[in-house]
Amino acid sequence: MPRISTSALRKAYAIDPLLPRLLSPCRDLRAAQNELRWLREHVGNVAEARRAQGDTISQSAFLHDLVKQRASGKPLQYLVGTEFFGDLEIDCWPGVLIPRQDTATAVQRLARLVRKAHNSPSELRVLDLCTGTGCIPLLFHHELYAARADVELRALGIDISEKALQLADHNLNRLRGDKTLADKGSLHFLQADVLANPFVEARGGPGHIAVSTALRHAMLPHIWDILISNPPYISPSAYWKTTTRSVRVFEPKLALVPPPPTSNSGIAQGDSFYPPILGIANEVEAKIVLLEVADLDQALRVARAAQALHVFDGVEIWREQPDEPDSPSPEAAGFHVLGQGNARSVVCWRGTGAAWLGKRERTSAYEDVAFPDPSCRAQFQIGPVRVSHQTEAFPYWVNNLNQEQLAVKHNVGRGVGTNAFSKQNRSGAPGRQGLDTTVAPAKVHPKVPKNRGLEITATPETERSEAPVGRP
Ligand SMILES: C[S@@+](CC[C@H](N)C(=O)[O-])C[C@H]1O[C@@H](n2cnc3c(N)ncnc32)[C@H](O)[C@@H]1O
Repeated sequence: MPRISTSALRKAYAIDPLLPRLLSPCRDLRAAQNELRWLREHVGNVAEARRAQGDTISQSAFLHDLVKQRASGKPLQYLVGTEFFGDLEIDCWPGVLIPRQDTATAVQRLARLVRKAHNSPSELRVLDLCTGTGCIPLLFHHELYAARADVELRALGIDISEKALQLADHNLNRLRGDKTLADKGSLHFLQADVLANPFVEARGGPGHIAVSTALRHAMLPHIWDILISNPPYISPSAYWKTTTRSVRVFEPKLALVPPPPTSNSGIAQGDSFYPPILGIANEVEAKIVLLEVADLDQALRVARAAQALHVFDGVEIWREQPDEPDSPSPEAAGFHVLGQGNARSVVCWRGTGAAWLGKRERTSAYEDVAFPDPSCRAQFQIGPVRVSHQTEAFPYWVNNLNQEQLAVKHNVGRGVGTNAFSKQNRSGAPGRQGLDTTVAPAKVHPKVPKNRGLEITATPETERSEAPVGRP
């Protein structure tokens, strides 16, 4: 760590004798001045609250003590007790991770996209795994109800740590109490272990039961629309190389570094929460999944793992400023990487989730058409569905449409043909469990030469008369 020059210390002392001690944790004078101002404000607020209870404190001694603690590296948020997360002021307690602004940015973006959707369900269910202070469901709630009164939000935050859950409940009660949070929808927190296997009896106390078991015990739904998670994702070596001393000494390692893997899965320790979380996303049939990651390398590993499940219709990566114009990402391996800055989240969607994210307009019965075959590049548009198709085999997964309702025309090169369809049992589909209808070409299976291209027009019965047939 570079040392601070004597002239900088002198300059700081001339402004305020307490400032030099803050230069070391803050690194520059302006930041140190801001922190000193916030510490003074905090001391003033505490003194006032004590006075209201008939008590007095020495404000000077209290301020000196806070400055001393800050100089030792203790995060400001633990000293003043709060951190802003989006527009919400979240209470922070030692032992629970301080919420970070990058997380808030991704959650705000997701909530703002979803609140614009025309086809939101009347009850929207959001599950946040590894909830910590509860900041993610709290912010999602705040953002959603800033623009939508017609949706009933049911949000649930899950964490293994009892202290985190106490703080999440405390934050919920405080924000509801001071009317920052609209008195709408429902928000709850629940203890469970994201890494626990539901088929193995829980060991190590009530915190170690699996998510599905905890949901069942609490009589909560097992289907959730949106799954968000900022799990521990730092490898032991990155923990030493990339985190500051302040983080290592004062923030809980449980929140940052996954435990060593118990089996020989071949998954790096830093990545070990993602496969179980994606498994839970699949179990709860999440239509949108937002997972925080450390950087582009980890984002690509997670994006590939999500794609390999063959249950999502799309996977993309959001950078720290996802709303800024995209910066070039030559290393992105075919994934769309949005915005600027470090890669921070992997976003997956399927079915109606695409429309909630604004990926395509609602197109009546096309709503739930999904193409999990990674070799299919589906392009959605208003009107017929078009698929650019690269291989010979092409299963269609068509949700909420019966075989009888569907007519499909295909164009191969210049020829136009019609496919006969059979309704297949979808139980063989990886990771999908029996809710949707699978329609696949039966007798007339067009042998499409690789890379030649195939366009398919899927037309629901109800719209067949108006919809164009053949090339859209
Ligand atoms: C990176 S923090 C995220 C906290 C919060 N969501 C945020 O964004 O500030 C990860 C959280 O995961 C929790 N956690 C760690 N291991 C867990 C497990 N096996 N199951 C559930 N939660 C776990 C920690 O207690 C911690 O609160």
